[in-house]
Amino acid sequence: MTTLTLVRGSITEQHVDAVVNAANSSLLGGGGVDGAIHRAGGPEILAACRTLRAGHYGRGLATGQAVATTAGRLPAEHVIHTVGPVHSTTEDRSALLASCYRESLRIAADLGARTIAFPAISTGVYGWPMDDGARIAVSTVRAEAAAPVEEVRFVLFDEAAYRAFERALAAD
Ligand code: APR
Repeated sequence: MTTLTLVRGSITEQHVDAVVNAANSSLLGGGGVDGAIHRAGGPEILAACRTLRAGHYGRGLATGQAVATTAGRLPAEHVIHTVGPVHSTTEDRSALLASCYRESLRIAADLGARTIAFPAISTGVYGWPMDDGARIAVSTVRAEAAAPVEEVRFVLFDEAAYRAFERALAAD
């Protein structure tokens, strides 16, 4: 049985087995969650990402996919980098956003992670409306989370995000 929890705060301060990064396809860093994770985690994470780019991920990480690296100095074992879709008003990319949560959970389970922390993927720079982002996050995790994952923690950076996830959890 996997428990879903909500926390107000920074993803970089979560003492969990795996922290999910809202990355971009280059895997070479950015702002928001990406910037915070690389800043707090240190150069080891970027070095690991560069190795991925030099190998199997020569063309970068595709939207909706996920890949794990060391967590460097973060209080976690792994960082799972995933690339969310940029919100579009003309194309429904919901399946790609759901894939970020599903693929991250799959990799976390493969790594034997028992606890995993997610940010609200795509709801920042990538412009996804928070309520819909929360709905997709909660429904996908509810459907996909399985052993050995025991806790999925959504880490919300501000009150509006926290309230949106509370509403999504309360929905059937
Ligand atoms: N901890 C938790 N959540 C955070 C943090 C943090 N330290 N910093 C920002 N957030 C929240 C934002 O408020 C937003 O709700 O994470 C959510 C995702 O925002 P972004 O980090 O902008 O990620 P995303 O919208 O997926 O855009 C990804 O932004 O930083 C670049 O390199 C990244 O190109 C990629 C794009």
